[in-house]
Amino acid sequence: MATAELKKGDVKDISLADAGKRKIEWSQQQMPVLQIIRKRFIKEQPLKGLRVSACLHVTSETANLMIALRDGGAEIVLCASNPLSTQDEVAASLNRDYNIPTYAIKGEDNETYYSHLRAALDHKPQMTMDDGADLVTMLLTKRPEQVKDVIAGTEETTTGVIRLRAMAKDGTLKYPVIAVNDAQTKHFFDNRYGTGQSTLDGVIRATNLLLAGLKVVIAGYGWCGRGVAMRAKGHGADVIITEIDPVKGIEAVMDGFRVLPMVDAAKEGDVFITVTGNKNVIRAEHFEHMKSGAVVCNSGHFNVEIDIPALERLSSGKREVRPLVDEYQLKDGRRICLIGEGRLVNLATAEGHPASVMDMSFANQALSAE
Ligand code: ADE
Repeated sequence: MATAELKKGDVKDISLADAGKRKIEWSQQQMPVLQIIRKRFIKEQPLKGLRVSACLHVTSETANLMIALRDGGAEIVLCASNPLSTQDEVAASLNRDYNIPTYAIKGEDNETYYSHLRAALDHKPQMTMDDGADLVTMLLTKRPEQVKDVIAGTEETTTGVIRLRAMAKDGTLKYPVIAVNDAQTKHFFDNRYGTGQSTLDGVIRATNLLLAGLKVVIAGYGWCGRGVAMRAKGHGADVIITEIDPVKGIEAVMDGFRVLPMVDAAKEGDVFITVTGNKNVIRAEHFEHMKSGAVVCNSGHFNVEIDIPALERLSSGKREVRPLVDEYQLKDGRRICLIGEGRLVNLATAEGHPASVMDMSFANQALSAE
């Protein structure tokens, strides 16, 4: 899609805006910290005239952050930070009701996803706001001439901060970026309680499985993995952790969980959830051991944790058995179900973290912008 066509935002269906506005207002009621900041921003105008390009999950919570920045004087555009995390009604309302150009369509293909990032960069940002570091990466690699306009950026998530630290180390990061994820009021809460609840919400909405009595294998025992494990246990699941960091593995044991290598966990699990930030955590040698009917999903930032090409190679076909649930028919007769194309399940099949926890994260974003 040519950027010229994208000037005023690009959304699925503008007629969804009424539903989006109601959703934005509902979230706003549960974001009191952000509202305090917004009210001060209205008076003090700390961002007056600042061009901000934000690349975030387009949800009702993000909408409230965008509104707070706009009310603080920023000239803001928003694009999706993942092809499958957009709430189309929210994107429509941001464009129609809040005058915030938004480029985001749930289910967009890669070409459209990157055209939306390009549209956000056409805004000539003085500040970038990322969730996963895709926008800053595109700016640095494809639009180096724009670096001189940029004062600073912010980054929301663990994976993005890891990417940025690698760039800082090899000298390719050309402007300062605040690692919002490093704030205790972000990762202690959003990563743990937010991911904990929203990930299970995604699994349950997608499959309607009863978790009680199932063996749920959680790959990764960082803040997100801990949250998912805690909530799965609360549902009565028999939780198994896989972890490559021995210290985190011991923590999981002392928290009362069994810790196994994935190749052993693969034989036992009914549901698999990856939250590691690493690549190919579940791969052919694991699929080969899984029970028929196993459900596999990811809640890490990128769709690289499950080796989907390997699953495709082992399969003779697939069909969509429920919305965003693909059942792969393996050549040996077993079935394996993949939720949300291996993209972050909490945003693909649920609504992401609830507003009260995003309030804390986005208060950090707003103050970082200031
Ligand atoms: N990341 C996880 N949940 C989110 C939400 N509700 N809004 C924006 N980003 C998120």
